[in-house]
Amino acid sequence: MRTVLVTGAAGFIGSNFVRLALEERPDWRLVVLDALTYAGNLENLEGVQEAYPERYRFLRGDVTDAVQVQALFQEEGVSGVFHFAAESHVDRSILGPMAFVRTNVLGTATLLEAARSAWKGQGGRFLQVSTDEVYGALGETGLFTEGTPLDPSSPYSASKAASDHLALAYHRTYGMEVVVTRCCNNYGPYQFPEKLIPFMVTRALEGKPCPVYGRGENVRDWIHVDDHNRGVILAFEKGAPGEVYNLGARCERKNLELVRALLRELSRLKGWDEGGIGERIAFVKDRPGHDWRYAIDPSKSERELGFRPRVPFEEGLRSTVAWYLEHEGWWRRILSGEYREFVKRQYGEA
Ligand code: NAD
Ligand code: TYD
Repeated sequence: MRTVLVTGAAGFIGSNFVRLALEERPDWRLVVLDALTYAGNLENLEGVQEAYPERYRFLRGDVTDAVQVQALFQEEGVSGVFHFAAESHVDRSILGPMAFVRTNVLGTATLLEAARSAWKGQGGRFLQVSTDEVYGALGETGLFTEGTPLDPSSPYSASKAASDHLALAYHRTYGMEVVVTRCCNNYGPYQFPEKLIPFMVTRALEGKPCPVYGRGENVRDWIHVDDHNRGVILAFEKGAPGEVYNLGARCERKNLELVRALLRELSRLKGWDEGGIGERIAFVKDRPGHDWRYAIDPSKSERELGFRPRVPFEEGLRSTVAWYLEHEGWWRRILSGEYREFVKRQYGEA
């Protein structure tokens, strides 16, 4: 049995990762560390402890807490890290960058240090989960490759770029087995309702306007969260130390086109008049420094890892919209603040 540490496991991608890894890697034991910030939600991990009592342990803790993190490596015999924990929302990073610097830069450095002192150059592997946003923005043409220079625009992407550099430096300097994945925009169940897809679905269900930044012509490249996570596992198992692997599903969409598609699907499921979709959309002031277009070239991962995304976008979007409809209690508890109250009751603090 191999013990791996999963940080940020109560968030969107991390919680989907935990379910997938427990199911598909029966010889892994998962020790999960999450600070339960506004974005971390224990409901995302409901049923996991009961289903896998021997192979799963949840710990509430902060990745910047060097004492706790180092003790965890020693006590648990951790030989692999999947580092998902981060402050992840671009708009929040514009409002307040310091939390991003603390968690994404200092938190990654704290984990790398704990791994260095526990592994002493061998016996472990560190998978840094990163984003295509570190490459900056593309114009109308071209794709991000692993060789594209880093040119981040937002405090979020700059903090992720810094943490990628630190992780890769631990390979070059100390020989640590570090692998970095950079993925495009994820969608799927349990995504916090501040990100484009769940935000638009929940706004429409509340009868509120869906705010599209600028003219909605910015392009994002989309992948289902399970496909991303399968790529992360492949990179951990097959990736070469010190290498970066881009993960994407070759699925570019203009924001407005995507918002229209999801409102069409929602209208179909709710029996709303499709003619009213235009009225649900409100064009609002653009995001400062809004990257124009992201598009991943995943051919290195396809060639070297055998990475093959499985979920076609239209199918994934349909099932995702249906998931938010079926889990209205989940997002309403988040929006009402009830979930934060629960954390306060459960843990004695917010
Ligand atoms: P999320 O915001 O939904 O979840 C982040 C999780 O990290 C939460 O559970 C939160 O409680 C936890 N966390 C935050 N600060 C912490 C700290 N100091 N200590 C411990 N835990 C802490 O984020 P997500 O969308 O699931 O993203 C996960 C990772 O994937 C991030 O590293 C992000 O940069 C990367 N990524 C995300 C996307 C995307 O489209 N969402 C795309 C590519 C890469
Ligand atoms: P987001 O989900 O915040 O992801 P990222 O900025 O990391 O790509 O946003 C995706 C795209 O949707 C981005 O171009 C900004 C746009 N957007 C809106 O137009 N309106 C919104 O309310 C939000 C949250 C995003």
